[in-house]
Amino acid sequence: MQSYDDFISTVSHELRTPLTSIRGFAQTMLQSYDKLDDENKKKFLKIIEEQSNRLIHLIENMLKVQNNDTIIFKAVSAKPLIEDVLQIIKQQYKEHNFILKYNEKLPKILVDTDKFQQVMTNLIENAAKYSNKGTTVTIITDFANIEDFISIKIQDHGVGIDEENLDKIFEKFSRIDNPLTRKVQGSGLGLYITKILVTKMNGKINVKSSEQGTTFEVEIPSENIEKQAREKCGQLH
Ligand SMILES: Nc1ncnc2c1ncn2[C@@H]1O[C@H](COP(=O)(O)OP(=O)(O)O)[C@@H](O)[C@H]1O
Ligand SMILES: [Mg+2]
Repeated sequence: MQSYDDFISTVSHELRTPLTSIRGFAQTMLQSYDKLDDENKKKFLKIIEEQSNRLIHLIENMLKVQNNDTIIFKAVSAKPLIEDVLQIIKQQYKEHNFILKYNEKLPKILVDTDKFQQVMTNLIENAAKYSNKGTTVTIITDFANIEDFISIKIQDHGVGIDEENLDKIFEKFSRIDNPLTRKVQGSGLGLYITKILVTKMNGKINVKSSEQGTTFEVEIPSENIEKQAREKCGQLH
């Protein structure tokens, strides 16, 4: 998960400069509003506008960098990868319960291990973030309905997502207003990046939600997909 951590630390660093400037000029304006003439007020607002534009460009560029990352496919068992992620998240969300139901008959999956863990981190973290302490987050792995795919469900008993917002959550910077989003911090980028990564790994992501909670399902190719493709190629020669 190193590359994701690097990405986040670069983002935080690069964002600080324009943000500090925006805050500084906004504070000056608020504190000295009556003393400033119109010309200066306009000048300060102009700087705030310029720095906001700079921030937007910066973020767009960073997302592109993240998107251009190459994917290195490997056949691996999903179990230890999910267990690793869970161990880290459990430290952050000590008052939630986490259960992993892993079907031991499952074949290996064909993924980029870092990116797969990034996807799991985003989804499991969201499940904990948008549900109350004391509730349970369950991760269920099984054979998917599509042949040679495995299914990973992340199920929570949280605040849920209204039907009309289900499409929006995968958009850039989208955060849906609910009592918990107001309390917890977020960028609205997690699911946007998650969907890009899942798609790049030839997988699918979908979501179901009700007042009882939310379930995200990721369907990801198993190593058998590659084997079959190779066998088919072999048959041709
Ligand atoms: N498991 C979940 N339960 C309820 N709402 C969720 C869940 N996961 C995501 N959301 C909603 O989708 C929005 C977008 O999620 P995400 O892209 O991860 O951004 P962030 O977590 O930074 O706000 C969240 O702000 C939240 O409103
Ligand atoms: Mg998130």
